[in-house]
Amino acid sequence: MKKHNLIVGQSGGPTAVINSSLYGVISEALSHPDAIGHVYGMVNGIQGLMQGHCCNLGKCSPTELEALTYTPGAYLGSCRCKLPEDLTDPVYPVILQKLEDMEIGYFLYIGGNDSMDTVSKLSRYAAKVNSRICFLGEPKTIDNDLVLTDHTPGFGSAARFVATAVREITTDAEVYDTQSVTIIEVMGRNAGWLTGASVLARRFEKDNPLLIYLPEVPFCTEDFIKRLGDLLKTRKTVILCVSEGIHDSEGRFICEYETSAETDTFGHKMLNGCGKFLEQLVRSRLGVKVRSVELNVIQRCSSGLLSETDRDEAIMAGRFGVNAALEQETGKMIAFERESNFPYRISCSLKDVGQICNKEKKVPLEWIREDCDLAEDFIQYAAPLIRGTVTARMEEGGLPSFVYR
Ligand code: F6P
Repeated sequence: MKKHNLIVGQSGGPTAVINSSLYGVISEALSHPDAIGHVYGMVNGIQGLMQGHCCNLGKCSPTELEALTYTPGAYLGSCRCKLPEDLTDPVYPVILQKLEDMEIGYFLYIGGNDSMDTVSKLSRYAAKVNSRICFLGEPKTIDNDLVLTDHTPGFGSAARFVATAVREITTDAEVYDTQSVTIIEVMGRNAGWLTGASVLARRFEKDNPLLIYLPEVPFCTEDFIKRLGDLLKTRKTVILCVSEGIHDSEGRFICEYETSAETDTFGHKMLNGCGKFLEQLVRSRLGVKVRSVELNVIQRCSSGLLSETDRDEAIMAGRFGVNAALEQETGKMIAFERESNFPYRISCSLKDVGQICNKEKKVPLEWIREDCDLAEDFIQYAAPLIRGTVTARMEEGGLPSFVYR
């Protein structure tokens, strides 16, 4: 078999384990020297590739490779870049020519639903021009919103962070003998999986967080004030979690009630700010001590709370992708199938990337209770994904020793 080179890229918002997927891809690719020549990285995803920004990953030392498994961010750099819908656009032959020039046989792209759109378009264009290059998608996103997979790498670690942060904030909020409300805003755009994971913070029934609002259910500010007011008749400390993407029944985002949201290069609204809005609303309507905490990017880059399960699955998906590429699979994404919950067990499979891109998997409505709580089914689904601890190598000064390109 003629040797071909492999290229891997990262795209979209990072997760705490996107570099573990990269580790899985690199280490597996390097273990097939008979079939794979060089292992290249796209710097800043497809956008960087178009500008000729690539690096040789075969030069990484074993220590650097191992550090990828706990380094947050995206080692290769990321992008939010939408390729043209029209496959006759001149950008496609340019990209294919670059890949041909580098003698690429295998193209692996680690990303979410927008990045799967890139894989879908490139694989369809390659089929059109009879290219032998295999294009595969490696899943990642803290939003956990990819369809046709049980869950996505990145969600478990972010979920562990959110649940831990909620539990920690609760202990802080309870210290005074006075009433208070704390609103915690969680990422996740139009899907509430990550906000839902805050339910894992509860130690007993009716423990905080007492209210959990997901974007799957329209949000009504009057119902919210009424519900919170009722709770405050009996509770001293109320912790509530809201998804950044909560919106009213007309589809208007709560974070846009005061200022309109900016749009990113992929056309998505940048949704943060609903927590601040609700904080002001609660203060003016209920007159209680209130603060809001926006978890923001720390929920997707905390290396201290990596889930070992999540880290191991990201590596497994990376390795599986390389082997699938070697078997000439193309136009597919690596997916997870849950085989059993007790004991928790999953396996990898391949799914048509065209059925995944640009779609969003939401939390099923039957897993949401009374519009602002999660059912036992959700807990059973999410609980195994946050298990296990990863210990990062530390510098002498006590800080984690990350790897930088
Ligand atoms: O990629 C998913 C995500 O982390 C969302 O949860 C969040 O809304 C978005 O990315 C933020 O994107 P950016 O980092 O590009 O501002």
